[in-house]
Amino acid sequence: MTSNNHTSVSIDLGDRSYSIQIGTQLLDDSQTFSQLPKANSAYVVSNTTVAPLYADRLVRALAGVYKSVHLVALPDGEEFKTWQVLNQIFDALLSNGADRKTVLFALGGGVVGDMTGFAAASFMRGIPFVQVPTTLLSQVDSSVGGKTGINHPLGKNMVGAFYQPLLVVCDLDTLKTLPDRELSAGLAEVIKYGPIADGSFLDWIEQNLPLLLARDGTALAHAVKRSCEIKAWVVGQDEREAGLRAILNFGHTFGHAIEAGLGYGEWLHGEAVGCGMVMAAHLSQRLGLVDAAYVQRLTSLIHNARLPVVGPILDANDNAGRYLELMRMDKKSEAGEIRFVVLDGIAKAKMLGAPDSMVREVVDSCCNPLL
Ligand code: NAD
Ligand code: GLY
Repeated sequence: MTSNNHTSVSIDLGDRSYSIQIGTQLLDDSQTFSQLPKANSAYVVSNTTVAPLYADRLVRALAGVYKSVHLVALPDGEEFKTWQVLNQIFDALLSNGADRKTVLFALGGGVVGDMTGFAAASFMRGIPFVQVPTTLLSQVDSSVGGKTGINHPLGKNMVGAFYQPLLVVCDLDTLKTLPDRELSAGLAEVIKYGPIADGSFLDWIEQNLPLLLARDGTALAHAVKRSCEIKAWVVGQDEREAGLRAILNFGHTFGHAIEAGLGYGEWLHGEAVGCGMVMAAHLSQRLGLVDAAYVQRLTSLIHNARLPVVGPILDANDNAGRYLELMRMDKKSEAGEIRFVVLDGIAKAKMLGAPDSMVREVVDSCCNPLL
């Protein structure tokens, strides 16, 4: 569905199907939320950075739909994606008399979205929730598909649930206040969709990268829409990641090791994914699945998106060993064997194991490109 400043993508999951609304001035408009099930109360869960920017506008729009609208502002940062902070949401719900029909609205980036979704999945064994993503990363990826959860000190996103929202509202106006570094982090997840699924989209991103970096509204709208279409297509076939959905984790196995190894919040998730995609592309080349020119093409694109392409040193004594240790914790590992998402030609990906010796070579060469 498309109108002048508004388009939508559907995600087809039977009785858990929903729409992703993409456009401008959606936040302020009660109409955006008018089709949601009736309830007495709504809670906007946000953080201390996003709430001062957008919560008033969303609360005002929701006041036209619900009798009472509460705001819960969590501390801001990946390091707060924890049990303790999750509990602040339950504290607010219980102390204000929330019931089973109460609707949660996640207003913020992926951290707020993942935590609010998990709170909705578990409060009173499940209450409805809506994603209102305000970062590029959350608009193109984390708000769609129902993965919710929190981090554990021993591993990222290790505790959570598959739980779908009722609606996703991507108000592109919110991207105007996003710091440049966060915009680039979001571009990492946009770029991801090209090599795993859509060669024409990869061409389009290369051609339009300057416009995306300049936050051109038309370019951003297309990037969000096409990314959501690809994600909806994948999740529609494999909601709970029995197979295909794993391709959405291209770059994430190396990336999660970087995030955990440096300490959450040191590199942004999208930065770690950007660099992780470079490493996974090198692994794909060593496995004979893509050629050096394609790896160079992707590396240049990621670099031009202002993302890191050289991996950090996580352990001065045995860097590759530390990466391997961290990657064995990945959710895709089976009986201690790491499963990587690798590229299988242009615009196709698959899961594969690789010998530790080969992974060591990749880590060594990507963390010190002079080797
Ligand atoms: P984030 O939620 O930490 O947001 C990034 C920063 O931008 C924060 O400081 C936030 O307060 C600020 N911010 C958000 N919107 C803003 C706006 N409009 N203007 C100004 N500042 C704004 O990070 P993220 O990149 O959005 O999400 C990363 C998280 O998402 C990670 O925890 C990752 O694990 C998760 N994730 C989940 C999925 C999934 O499928 N559930 C997919 C990808 C990533
Ligand atoms: N971001 C990966 C997934 O949703 O499966």
